[in-house]
Amino acid sequence: MSRKFALIIGSGWEHLSPQDGGTEVETAWGLPSGPVHRVCFGPTEVMCLARHGDGHALPPHVINYRANVVALKKLGADAIIALNTVGVISDVREAGQIAIPDQILDYTWGREHTIYDGRRAHVEHIDFTEPFSTDLRQDLLRAAVAANVDCFDGGTYAATQGPRLETAAEIDRLERDGADFIGMTAMPEASIAREVDINYACIAMIVNPAAGRGDQPIHDAVAASTETARNATMSTLQAFFRAL
Ligand code: HPA
Repeated sequence: MSRKFALIIGSGWEHLSPQDGGTEVETAWGLPSGPVHRVCFGPTEVMCLARHGDGHALPPHVINYRANVVALKKLGADAIIALNTVGVISDVREAGQIAIPDQILDYTWGREHTIYDGRRAHVEHIDFTEPFSTDLRQDLLRAAVAANVDCFDGGTYAATQGPRLETAAEIDRLERDGADFIGMTAMPEASIAREVDINYACIAMIVNPAAGRGDQPIHDAVAASTETARNATMSTLQAFFRAL
């Protein structure tokens, strides 16, 4: 089990209080979304990077995923726990709950998605059959059990381009494709992490039924469910780091 952990936090985590002013890191692909902070879970210090920037200004399609992941690699991370808000398409879980997905469908486009961009002497075609780290997923699932959090084991995360939400017909198509959850940020984050040999797993925080699936406007569902999903995530993280 790897030991140097990083969190990539997304929407709704602004209150996760850093212990420092942050470390600025430059990479061959430019600057990450912001400084890398340190947060503490008991005695464990964890790197923490806000995917959308400290002021939440960066939309999903503009984020420099390469710089973010490579910056964490440069600081020595060998495991990333990504926190991603999602809508739920299938009936595996409801808004307010969490899941540790095990598969990805990638519908994003136009993002700088690989470190193999022609500047290197070689290309490695990474094996992405299992897009998430099996060991890290299992450890997170064990932590959820220890924290008494109802967490779905598995499911397919569909990554869309955003920043707009989907149409109901798009969600129907994604369901036919086999998607359980829909979000905008796990790709190309997960594949770049694999390229630089960092174990990567995602806690999917379900904050709304996907378009056309709920009985209230999506933003009302998000407002009603985010805190519950965030509390479930926080309890899981605390149990995870306690168990190290
Ligand atoms: N669609 C795409 N991304 C999301 C959603 C959604 O419904 N909810 C949270 N992130």
